[in-house]
Amino acid sequence: MSIFPENFLWGGSTSAEQIEGAYLTDNKLLSTADMMTLAKKGKSREITTAIEEKKFYPTHKAIDFYHHYRDDIKLFAEMGFSSYRFSIAWTRIFPHGDDNSPNIVGLKFYDEVVNLCLKYKITPIVTLQHFDTPMGLQKYGFWESRKVVDFYIKFATTVLKHFKGRVKYWLTFNEINNMTTMPWNAGGISLNANQDTKEFAAYHQLLASAKVVKIAHQIDSGNKVGMMYNGHFSYPATSNPKDIIGNQEFQKKLLFYADVQARGYYPSYKLKELERNNIKLPIKSGDITSLKEGKVDFISFSYYLTHVCGAKTKGVIKGLNGLDTGYTNPYLSKSEWGWPIDPEGLRYGLNLLYDRYQLPLMIVENGLGSEDKVVDGQIHDPYRIKYIREHLLQLEKAINYDGVEVLGYLTWGPIDLVSASTGEMKKRYGFIYVDVDNLGQGTFARLRKDSFYWYKKVIQTNGNYL
Ligand code: BG6
Repeated sequence: MSIFPENFLWGGSTSAEQIEGAYLTDNKLLSTADMMTLAKKGKSREITTAIEEKKFYPTHKAIDFYHHYRDDIKLFAEMGFSSYRFSIAWTRIFPHGDDNSPNIVGLKFYDEVVNLCLKYKITPIVTLQHFDTPMGLQKYGFWESRKVVDFYIKFATTVLKHFKGRVKYWLTFNEINNMTTMPWNAGGISLNANQDTKEFAAYHQLLASAKVVKIAHQIDSGNKVGMMYNGHFSYPATSNPKDIIGNQEFQKKLLFYADVQARGYYPSYKLKELERNNIKLPIKSGDITSLKEGKVDFISFSYYLTHVCGAKTKGVIKGLNGLDTGYTNPYLSKSEWGWPIDPEGLRYGLNLLYDRYQLPLMIVENGLGSEDKVVDGQIHDPYRIKYIREHLLQLEKAINYDGVEVLGYLTWGPIDLVSASTGEMKKRYGFIYVDVDNLGQGTFARLRKDSFYWYKKVIQTNGNYL
């Protein structure tokens, strides 16, 4: 008897810039991701205005998936993946972002990726933008500009039409709520930009997403379009009502994005906040209808950790999965990169999102970033197996005990890749090890870790092997 639903999607997720490399190959041009240097644990990556020779930019080579995709997808198939989520780099299709016609070689690359997935009976799940706005759109002010909405729609429409019938699952923006915490990654907006700029950029992405949901349905009524939420779930620090309210305020800052994408309008608490701050959104005629008509079909989210929030939590935390909420959780252990490990928090988050929206959910990122050691060509990673196993046990409870509808579970980085927060390679998430170090040195050989064989069995038994 299976403990996960029939046709449950098992797999893994990646993003273009964290795996592909070949950053200027076949007409591709720079994206915002390509301007970020290598940092380390606890340090933010520097964002440079031009490529500086003496600095190291990890996405330029990454794991060179661009030249290894055949072998990599074959390894996913060997593990039994029934789904693979990847992103299409906008700069491969429209290198400047605002080009008149698409770059055919770029489309051809993703043709091969999609066709290979289909050959192996792997359902492709495509993210349209994952932290990589074309640098060519800087002259407009990136997402602060309404013009970028139209360029994005053109890119999305091109890709939706091109892959019609071959790709059914689409995500419009990776972790759209990162516009609040990591605006450069989310849309080329500086962390120090004023509040108006950030709110305008968020508005434009929400609008662009809604318009693309409608277009996707028009192109193919079988298309399912989801939002992608960074699952920053949080607990109140104490039962002191001030902490309860502090935590609620924090949650609303981020859930606001999901509220708009799932319900089709700006929630009243957000409108009040904008009013208090004297911010007038650049709403044009027809926008309110577009938001209403562009509600998502499902909610996908990433989950790594939980926060503790309360009266001391000032505004919103900064930085990818940043931890500075003013509190730590004494009940949880932490990963090597200081991220609290909280499997039950996954069940909590699943219930929270399902209760709030009553839409199918999909976990599209979860996993442990950890250093691995290669000993005699083998990688023993019981810590990774333990982490994923414990999260899957909680997922099973959410499905079978709580009745949450979950479409699938995809781990983050099934193959080692460049870390988004630090740019390091040694923060590894994969079932597949890639022989490349922080500075892009290595053979780029792929090795199966112990977790590779374990995940394969989990998939084979539809979760019974847990
Ligand atoms: C998610 C992002 O927030 O977290 C990924 O969608 C990212 O791009 C992942 O890689 C893990 O974060 P990190 O910093 O460990 O790479």
